[in-house]
Amino acid sequence: MTGEYSILVAQLEALSESSRNFIPLLSNASALVYENLKDLNWAGFYLVRNDALLLGPFQGKVACVNIAKGKGVCGTAFEKDETQLVKNVHEFPGHIACDSASNSEIVVPIHEDGKVVAVLDIDSPLLNRFDEEDQKGLEAFVKKLEELIEWE
Ligand code: SME
Repeated sequence: MTGEYSILVAQLEALSESSRNFIPLLSNASALVYENLKDLNWAGFYLVRNDALLLGPFQGKVACVNIAKGKGVCGTAFEKDETQLVKNVHEFPGHIACDSASNSEIVVPIHEDGKVVAVLDIDSPLLNRFDEEDQKGLEAFVKKLEELIEWE
């Protein structure tokens, strides 16, 4: 993992010392990602509710509230339980354009007891903003989040 992501993981751990509750932790985690990674226009979480995705804590413009399982990049990550690294969102079938500025996106599933309970979604106005190193770093960030978080 690159230094940038090791620092992010360490910062998340430090933040969790105040509270591990999912509301403050996901709120601060979205701020951490949004402030520290370059060239983003949206960073946040969708939570699994009634087998669909519901908007959670985020940074960026107003976003879609409900996303069905299997729809868009987020719903695909949820259904397949696989990170979606999308170098050009305009080429992704069914991509949901919440912010027209977005050109690339990465979505990482988050688990509790082996089941997907949320996803981390990050958008960039740049094409090709995310590569395999970003994927590794963000999956490590999510793994730490899974260890720390209390879903109430
Ligand atoms: N683009 C996402 C929708 C969420 S917004 O990017 C915040 C998707 O296709 O699932």
